[in-house]
Amino acid sequence: MRAKLVAGNWKMYGSLAANLTLLTRIKDGASGRRCVLAVCVPFPYLAQARSALAGSSVAWGGQNVAEHAQGAFTGEVSGEMLAEFGCRYVLVGHSERRALYGESDRTVAAKFVQAQRAGLTPILCLGETLAERDGGITAAVVTRQLGAVIDATGVASLSRAVLAYEPVWAIGTGKTASPQQAQDVHALIRARVAESDAAVASELQILYGGSVKPGNARELFAMPDIDGGLIGGASLVAEDFLAICAAA
Ligand code: PGA
Repeated sequence: MRAKLVAGNWKMYGSLAANLTLLTRIKDGASGRRCVLAVCVPFPYLAQARSALAGSSVAWGGQNVAEHAQGAFTGEVSGEMLAEFGCRYVLVGHSERRALYGESDRTVAAKFVQAQRAGLTPILCLGETLAERDGGITAAVVTRQLGAVIDATGVASLSRAVLAYEPVWAIGTGKTASPQQAQDVHALIRARVAESDAAVASELQILYGGSVKPGNARELFAMPDIDGGLIGGASLVAEDFLAICAAA
């Protein structure tokens, strides 16, 4: 049985004062729960996340990582640096990075490799835009995005990674994929991995992301190939995030 994981993506939100309240509530609310919880916070707050969450069951991580190990790359943050701050996870290839910062499939694959080299578990985000869904190419898009990583580093690397299917049209829009729509893509992703390695596919955690809320989480997480969620907006409200964890 695959364990459920609920990971928060804070995006570019937070302040030292607000984070302290949020992290304390999450930490207190998480104790004794079976699902694994994680928060992916902005870089400047990693030290705060570490001191607030150390010794708890809640993991933390970054939202991006450099595609190089080190060097003259002004403004970039390496996998080793994230590891030094105790990160377990890092988001790779979030659709906002792909769309707003021009990250190609190749760049995303290089980031995935660097994350694993530093001992982090990448949460690799995949997903189609509305135009791509309407054009009937959802399967082709997610297969291409996933294929770039498999080509770069091999299918076995997925045994040390998490995938997140996030339809771009559902992110921050209040429009969730229906449980069946999400399940269909999750099953397709798992089948694609199984073509190369059935054992890796059956152990692979595939999260759903895109307007997950306490009100829709239970139905989504009940689907056979949905192993938890990547939560944006609702991860900034402790009660909502914990309710989503309870649903998992
Ligand atoms: P959302 O964001 O839950 O606010 O839709 C999800 C994400 O971007 O990871």
